[in-house]
Amino acid sequence: MPTYEATSTAPVNIAVIKYWGKRDTALILPTNSSLSVTLDQDHLRSQTTSRCDESFEKGDRLWLNGKEEAVKADGRLGVCIRELRKMRSEVEQGDEKLPKLSQWPLRIASYNNFPTAAGLASSASGLAALVASLAQLYELPQSPSLLSCIARQGSGSACRSLFGGYVAWREGTSSDGSDSLAEEVASRDHWPEMHALICVVSDKKKGTSSTSGMQRTVETSPLLQHRLTLVPGRMKEMESAIASRDFDAFAALTMADSNNFHAVCLDTSPPIFYLNDVSRALIGLVEELNRASKEATGHLIAGYTFDAGPNCVIYALEGNIATVIRAVQRYFPTEAAFPDPFGVLGGKEAGEV
Ligand code: PMV
Repeated sequence: MPTYEATSTAPVNIAVIKYWGKRDTALILPTNSSLSVTLDQDHLRSQTTSRCDESFEKGDRLWLNGKEEAVKADGRLGVCIRELRKMRSEVEQGDEKLPKLSQWPLRIASYNNFPTAAGLASSASGLAALVASLAQLYELPQSPSLLSCIARQGSGSACRSLFGGYVAWREGTSSDGSDSLAEEVASRDHWPEMHALICVVSDKKKGTSSTSGMQRTVETSPLLQHRLTLVPGRMKEMESAIASRDFDAFAALTMADSNNFHAVCLDTSPPIFYLNDVSRALIGLVEELNRASKEATGHLIAGYTFDAGPNCVIYALEGNIATVIRAVQRYFPTEAAFPDPFGVLGGKEAGEV
């Protein structure tokens, strides 16, 4: 029998309406819906190759960035593998001629082209790439939304990385999680002028994992209850901002929701501090850029957001991204050459700006 193999990639997504809190920790059902923008494949992404072969020694094995990690049957990864195997086995039962891939051991290798677990949503792209590669290996007919239900059980935010563009994760109402899935709100092409600038404040592993942080918040934060009353309205406003390509509304909501999420972290007991002094200085810079821009043009120029770590993601439109990059470079100079992925700096090194 040959070795069967499939490779898939999935990009990072950065939420503009944050997911923070689970109503069911086993199925990973969220306390609120969330909305994100999936970044381009070329920048931050995970690539996963899955192989299966009848002759492999028993047991599934996984390597993350070349280092072997245990695959626990009841762990997040194990659950995703089990669910996809189940789907494959149902397909095999319907067609006797198909090879019994569902019964063979797996070998999975996954690589991130960016720092892992530094608040850059590596678990989202990693689990999404894993689910996509297994679905391809097993030739599963399921839609991305259905697969998102499986990725969700690996890491909540992973369900959004199965789609490009602007993506909503609907919290759903069923207790089995079958309607807690991701769907595309708008394609990347709908608003291609949108850019995300990733400011890596620290590439160290974060102090409080999102899993334990969320649990602590759900158990102790009274402010979370208030947040949960705000999010449904914000989801609607964000969807209409995207539909009408209204950057002012998009940026204002993005910043408000990031600040609300970090306020909830601070309201947790013991408090969770994801932002550091550099993060706060970046907030100050964007607020100042927006103040000046509002005065000059009546419009906002940028919107910041922070996940469970100090790194900043700044959304800005094509026509303004060079101004934002120049300002960041001026006030936060780096020793390393600043990459110019958008080609907006006119061929200059960013250090020359
Ligand atoms: O999916 P997790 O467990 O890595 O949680 C992600 C939580 C945030 O990144 C902070 C917010 C979000 O919606 O992505």
